[in-house]
Amino acid sequence: MLDPKLLEQIIDVAAIAAYKSSLFKGKGDKNAADQAAVDAMRHKLNDLNICGKVVIGEGEMDEAPMLYIGEVLGKSENPKIDIAVDPLDGTKLAANNEPNAISVISVAEEGMLLQAPDTYMNKISVGPNLPNNIVDLDEDIKKNIQNLKKAKKKNINDICICVLDRDRHYHFIDSAKSLGSKVKLISDGDVAGSIYSALASTDVDMYLGIGGAPEGVLAASAIKCLGGQFQARLIIKNDDEILRAKKLGIKDFEKKYNLDEIVKGDVIFCSTGVTDGELVSGIKIKDNTYETETFALHYSQKFFQKVKKKYQV
Ligand code: FBP
Repeated sequence: MLDPKLLEQIIDVAAIAAYKSSLFKGKGDKNAADQAAVDAMRHKLNDLNICGKVVIGEGEMDEAPMLYIGEVLGKSENPKIDIAVDPLDGTKLAANNEPNAISVISVAEEGMLLQAPDTYMNKISVGPNLPNNIVDLDEDIKKNIQNLKKAKKKNINDICICVLDRDRHYHFIDSAKSLGSKVKLISDGDVAGSIYSALASTDVDMYLGIGGAPEGVLAASAIKCLGGQFQARLIIKNDDEILRAKKLGIKDFEKKYNLDEIVKGDVIFCSTGVTDGELVSGIKIKDNTYETETFALHYSQKFFQKVKKKYQV
């Protein structure tokens, strides 16, 4: 089990990354916004009494100068933990000062998070209190919607699916509309998109579609804490991706992963708003302080709250 005191520290990690990247919001430079978040997150993690290994980060060692997969962070021998980061999910959103840019991190005990290469991943998620396997990644979308409708005792017109606004998802949109169901399109940021499916405060019943694999593992961390369901399959297309996946110990490229195979055991998930969004508010700077809002979750502690904090600039 992860020490409950770690949650407070991980909130601070997500918060500083969000603040630093918020200084670039609306400046049109997504790489600068991302780099600011990466630097801040790395610096803060290195200051913690942990021995944390990045299992999902900014890429492999030769491509990424910082927060690369395999990088070890922290100033202690223990506790040994796995770290998954997306210091800025929604780099374009931040650069254009659009809603829903967030900083994201999850941590688990050593060896407990799926090490996913930076490829695409096919994902599906739903919220808590539903029969097991009520939806399935390999099932037709119309059948998944019908199953959800029955289990949630909802009208088909009230079922809402969330997908990234990409050509590859237009068949989902057509299918949902042909049933009379609703579609919520998001331009970017599918960590939050997937989380919407597990929150009563949104009208999203199911998230599905293809997005980044790291974002999938991070979303799965949150969905686990929220009691929802999540399935995924990596999309490994070419020799380079096969090699990268193999390096991370993945042997079966067609494997359909269930939530407990992606996130084993206890997990902490934190996501701080960079710009205002549906999940959390963005950074508010006033005089020499800034206020953050973090969606903070700890599985074993049944902790799920939006935490507001004030920091000195
Ligand atoms: P970045 O912030 O790294 O640009 O990712 C944004 C994002 O929307 C992710 O949330 C999502 O998983 C991925 O991009 C989808 O990839 P693509 O834009 O190539 O469809």
